[in-house]
Amino acid sequence: MKNKIGIFDSGVGGLTVLKSLSDKYKCIDYIYIGDNKYCPYGDKTKEELLNYAKRIVNYFIEKGISIIVIACNTSCSQTLDELKQIYKNITFIGVIDSTIDVFLKSKKNNVLVIGTSATINSNIYESKIKEKNNNIKVTNLATPKLVPLIENMEMTKEALNEYLNPYNDIDSIILACTHYKLIEKEIDKNIKVINSSDSIVNTIKNYIIESTTGSVKIYTTGNIIKFNKICKMIMNKEADYLDL
Ligand code: DGL
Repeated sequence: MKNKIGIFDSGVGGLTVLKSLSDKYKCIDYIYIGDNKYCPYGDKTKEELLNYAKRIVNYFIEKGISIIVIACNTSCSQTLDELKQIYKNITFIGVIDSTIDVFLKSKKNNVLVIGTSATINSNIYESKIKEKNNNIKVTNLATPKLVPLIENMEMTKEALNEYLNPYNDIDSIILACTHYKLIEKEIDKNIKVINSSDSIVNTIKNYIIESTTGSVKIYTTGNIIKFNKICKMIMNKEADYLDL
């Protein structure tokens, strides 16, 4: 019996999740899809996001995969519940619940949540945090300039400062977009920063079985040259193009 996990995101952001998982669990066959054909996901409708996700899930099923990590807050916030309803035999693991668990353990009580417009407009972080602890102050901020800058390897510092400067009283920030782990170090504020890429590592251990070998296969549905510049930096290997 082999462990096989499919992971997807709109682009390079989910590679940060793949990196955390593959560093920790070498015994898994991972297939990663960066859906750059439709990147960014953050400004798409729920219906569009569900269609994008379904074609990726169908591809994973063809490859014999039954555990899928949605390494994308945007897709999780808009499609996770529907996907669980549609594909009853597949285990879907999202990034949002585990990120919130890590945040709650930090005992902070005045948090800024930054993410794509779709994630922020869904209000999913605030409502899930408040369900657990209604005393926490949650401020939501859509930061749509960041994903295109990150994907294009352009400077993010100015946009990040512009977004974060008005928030002086917060004690923590949740990076509710997997792309943002790539710019985590640029956040100057001397406060607790929780990214949505690493927290899933503990969740996965409940789904895997002991095995000796594993592999990593990475695809993008978009521009392979552009994707590989970042993919090589994060994963130290190249992706292939997937026509999906
Ligand atoms: N990495 C994504 C997320 O976690 C998607 C960003 C986008 O494509 O807009 O939300």
